[in-house]
Amino acid sequence: MAFQVALSFEDGITRFIDCGPDETVADASYKARINIPLDCRDGACGTCKSFCESGSYDGGDYIDEALTEDEAELGYCLPCQMTPQTDLVLRIPSTSAAAKTAAATHTATLARIERHSTTTVGFTLDVDHRRTLDFLPGQYVNISVPGTDLHRSYSFSTGPDQDQASFLVRLTDGGAMSGYLADRALVGDRMEFTGPMGSFYLRERTRPGLFLAGGTGLAPLLSMLEQLARTPATYPVHLIYGVTTDQDLVHLDTLEDYAELIPGFTFDHCVADESSSARNRGFVTGLIDAATLNDGDVDVYLCGPPPMVEAVRGHIDSLGITPANFHYEKFAVTAAMAGAAR
Ligand code: FES
Repeated sequence: MAFQVALSFEDGITRFIDCGPDETVADASYKARINIPLDCRDGACGTCKSFCESGSYDGGDYIDEALTEDEAELGYCLPCQMTPQTDLVLRIPSTSAAAKTAAATHTATLARIERHSTTTVGFTLDVDHRRTLDFLPGQYVNISVPGTDLHRSYSFSTGPDQDQASFLVRLTDGGAMSGYLADRALVGDRMEFTGPMGSFYLRERTRPGLFLAGGTGLAPLLSMLEQLARTPATYPVHLIYGVTTDQDLVHLDTLEDYAELIPGFTFDHCVADESSSARNRGFVTGLIDAATLNDGDVDVYLCGPPPMVEAVRGHIDSLGITPANFHYEKFAVTAAMAGAAR
């Protein structure tokens, strides 16, 4: 039986390889034609030193000069020596180009378009050879806009184990994907995307989680929730979902379903618009206090536009609390950016 090892490169590209229980990660990478950094291959130089984000493994034999006890304790590891005992996610200290690899390209058929509201649309793809598409919950792909030479970045709103792949789009005037979905898209259209990408993904859970979503930044958190729904319950997760207007509020029924399905999952939402009929008017920061942050013993996952990310960071600082981990992804609504543009 082989385990799946996700190699997450510095440029955000992730490649997945199969690695047998008696095989080193370096050997499995080599077999997959991915040149992760290596020198001695003997646990002596430390060139391959990487960081294990999740999973367990046998670290193998090495000397202290290559990896100290403290580093090993923190989660650093040597792919030239380590063998997996579960699926792993490794952060590799190199770019994908240096490792002579690149993001995978996938083709798909447009299976469904869902207009959730006047501002937000969802679409779903049937991916060709679905089993060849791996991703970590929270990651995004670059999707080519049919009929143009443009692409836009969208996070999966579905989980890695679901048959279809869905995405959420905030409609913007003049937006390339917005225009396509509003005017030209037809079920059955062929589409293409590359990825997965991004370091915003669900890590191994060792403490309670706080998920914060701004607008369509809900998508990657839905993907994480889907993953949580398929794995044994561990720690509680609270999600706070903030939007600008009532029209932007989507997938509340999906969140209700997850609240039923996932033990320890709760959520709240707020709308910034003063005229909203929502129970909470204002910003997500209004719903974050020391208790929500479990006095710092919490892993925060935040996806939203840059001002929201900065506001949340400033607010948490002002409470004098430092979360154990703070993972975030900023996205721009309109620009075709290097990051996720939704
Ligand atoms: Fe030298 Fe792994 S390549 S320690």
